[in-house]
Amino acid sequence: MSDVEKTEFQLPPQSDGPGRDPDTPLDPYSQPQEQDGERTLRPRSLEEFIGQPKVRGQLDLVLTGAKNRGVTPDHVLLSGPPGLGKTTMAMIIAQELGTSLRMTSGPALERAGDLAAMLSNLMEGDVLFIDEIHRIARPAEEMLYMAMEDFRIDVIVGKGPGATSIPLELPPFTLVGATTRAGMLTGPLRDRFGFTAQMEFYDATDLTKVVTRAARILDVGIDADAAVEIASRSRGTPRIANRLLRRVRDYAEVHGDGHVDLPAAREALQIFDVDGQGLDRLDRQVLNALVRGHGGGPVGVNTLAVAVGEESSTVEEVCEPYLVRAGLVARTGRGRVATAAAWAHLGLTPPEGTIGAWSED
Ligand SMILES: Nc1ncnc2c1ncn2[C@@H]1O[C@H](COP(=O)(O)OP(=O)(O)OP(=O)(O)O)[C@@H](O)[C@H]1O
Ligand SMILES: [Mg+2]
Repeated sequence: MSDVEKTEFQLPPQSDGPGRDPDTPLDPYSQPQEQDGERTLRPRSLEEFIGQPKVRGQLDLVLTGAKNRGVTPDHVLLSGPPGLGKTTMAMIIAQELGTSLRMTSGPALERAGDLAAMLSNLMEGDVLFIDEIHRIARPAEEMLYMAMEDFRIDVIVGKGPGATSIPLELPPFTLVGATTRAGMLTGPLRDRFGFTAQMEFYDATDLTKVVTRAARILDVGIDADAAVEIASRSRGTPRIANRLLRRVRDYAEVHGDGHVDLPAAREALQIFDVDGQGLDRLDRQVLNALVRGHGGGPVGVNTLAVAVGEESSTVEEVCEPYLVRAGLVARTGRGRVATAAAWAHLGLTPPEGTIGAWSED
């Protein structure tokens, strides 16, 4: 017998099974009414996708290679902080392959039967997208191992001594997994992906293109310097760039004729609590807890999360990657520490000997 957990198998449902709405982002600050906007702004092809030149180049090779050989591409893992385009990229992969995309998410796959239902509905060449794949339950994960490697699963029908295992052949498919926490994936699962795309924060030039493109789609007139300003305050994240553009548009429509110029962009961003480096309220709370509350650290991420009244996963997945990348926070073996730039950002001077004391870690 295989190491696949024995789970009672239900007949495949007529629906797609435990699906996930791709437009429900993980980002806790994304408002439901803005999800329609996200849908319209999503790039639909590799060519239309702005930035991530490395990932785009790698994916292009993987997809074209497979297409030329007439096979389904290897399974792809998309890893990176929220809002960088993982779901968008999964949709583009299916689009580029000319196949359908089936969507679900780790938390929806609680039992192996949930996954079996999804898998048994796949057609040849389909792309199965599992969002938040690091949150998949163990029994489903073990079934996934065999499905990914051999394109078959063992389903258990019945219960107790009379239970029988029926092997089920699956059509070749491509699994696309997305995760904000690649480190939480088990070794065996990670090893079964043929390619891992590490999505990086976007630089100001690419984000300016994101803002300009979104303004065009939303029919908002915007000056070049205003687009640069919005981009530079978007925490390297297209979802945030699009959201800030919508807030600035609100401001420009209420206080002017709707055209976005630099003063309008600046005033709107100030009203919405986005500071010069793009830090939002929660980012600043975390920095304050670290610097003012704990003398600059080192301090554990759980302590910081309690101090700001957030889940530690939010602090770790949403705030921290950007604070680290902005050079404001450093991770050390003993916890998180504030850099000199963090003290300066809050208008403070670090006490003598604070900075650098941790750099030996
Ligand atoms: N390269 C890009 N060019 C233009 N817009 C983009 C790009 N990447 C993402 N976006 C925009 O940002 C929004 C968020 O992207 P997406 O939902 O793909 O992020 P994600 O990485 O899946 O986030 P999460 O981890 O929260 O699920 C999209 O709706 C899209 O409008
Ligand atoms: Mg997503």
